[in-house]
Amino acid sequence: MKSSTRQYFQFAHHHILLLTLVYFSGRVLDAHAVPKQRPFNNTIPAILVFGDSTVDPGNNDYINRVFKGNFPPYGRDFANHAATGRFTNGRLPSDYIILYMGIKDYIPPYLNQSLSIEELITGVSFASAGTGYDPLTPTLSNVVSLQKQLEYFQEYRERLEGAIGKEETGDLIKRSIFLLSAGTNDFALNYFTEQLRRLSFSASNYEKFVLQHFKGFIQGLLSQGATKIAVVGLPPMGCLPVIITSNTIPLTGRQCVERINSVARDYNTLLQSEMRHLQSTQLNKETKIYYADIYGPLQDMIQNHQRYGFEVVSRACCGTGLVEASFMCNAKTPVCPDASKYIFWDAIHPTDRAYYLIFQAFRPLIDFIIKDSTS
Ligand SMILES: *[C@@H]1O[C@H](CO)[C@@H](O)[C@H](O)[C@H]1NC(C)=O
Ligand SMILES: *[C@@H]1O[C@H](CO)[C@@H](O)[C@H](O)[C@H]1NC(C)=O
Repeated sequence: MKSSTRQYFQFAHHHILLLTLVYFSGRVLDAHAVPKQRPFNNTIPAILVFGDSTVDPGNNDYINRVFKGNFPPYGRDFANHAATGRFTNGRLPSDYIILYMGIKDYIPPYLNQSLSIEELITGVSFASAGTGYDPLTPTLSNVVSLQKQLEYFQEYRERLEGAIGKEETGDLIKRSIFLLSAGTNDFALNYFTEQLRRLSFSASNYEKFVLQHFKGFIQGLLSQGATKIAVVGLPPMGCLPVIITSNTIPLTGRQCVERINSVARDYNTLLQSEMRHLQSTQLNKETKIYYADIYGPLQDMIQNHQRYGFEVVSRACCGTGLVEASFMCNAKTPVCPDASKYIFWDAIHPTDRAYYLIFQAFRPLIDFIIKDSTS
């Protein structure tokens, strides 16, 4: 992207985003509101997804670990109320994106060995809940590292080459969107909760350390032929119910932890400047890297929750709302009757409705990538 275009786009993106959020507030939102069509004559054939629970549709189900979400009440508001392993009550933003692009209804987990070739070539997710850029982070919950996700991608590529040929596979990969969403577990779990890396890194040095690993991962994707990479930044991690719980001092009440939010903002600033640097120094004209802001939309939902019809912000729908996630949020846990009034489904993950609104905030970027790919 030319830098003038980019600046305009970032400016426009910011404003469209606010407008979109205002426009959609107060309306009944569900999957049926997503137009299933190819906007701007979408020619992008697939989305290939890497990262953590924000984009994991159930890969952890197949690796037999504790950190899973494939039992009720997860998936309560999903098709057939199926608990697929998605850490929410319905769809993930990546599911809403592929639906919006008119490709298919959901992005399946790559580790399901029964996926057909048709399912593989229209996009899969390699993501694993609990993972991060820092190689230490996935070891905390024994989940799939990003390096391993890249190896699975190589295997995916070989399977496609066997089925549709080398040339067509190369073309498919070149035309697909690579979506990358990770980093929260590095900071919220590894650094601030387990305090492992905290022994040897200041917060700002850890940001740089995580970015080094981010860069390494991007190089890996580029060397595999990726030409359109969308990267999601960090959310306001200080507002996750579990973080609020572990940092709340009696009497102050439950509030977002500003110290942790400011680390997320700093990291996002560095990430964007790193991405601009990559774009201008290392990438050829055909290769684009796009930043997707999740901090702004989620922060706005939290601060102006009434405008969106949310009634509960600092507690989650499942359990007490203070600490439960994964196996602690299960069939025996009390659950709120209407998750659409909550921003958080469990103490770490947004509800389907919050994810839908995040997708809406990403829409101008998706439209832009589609247009950028056809022109
Ligand atoms: C999509 O393609 C058709 C046929 O080529 C064209 O008539 C139409 O204007 C295109 N729509 C958009 C939104 O670009
Ligand atoms: C795995 O994929 C197949 C083919 O789409 C599907 O029928 C099956 O339900 C999936 N398995 C799980 C556990 O979701």
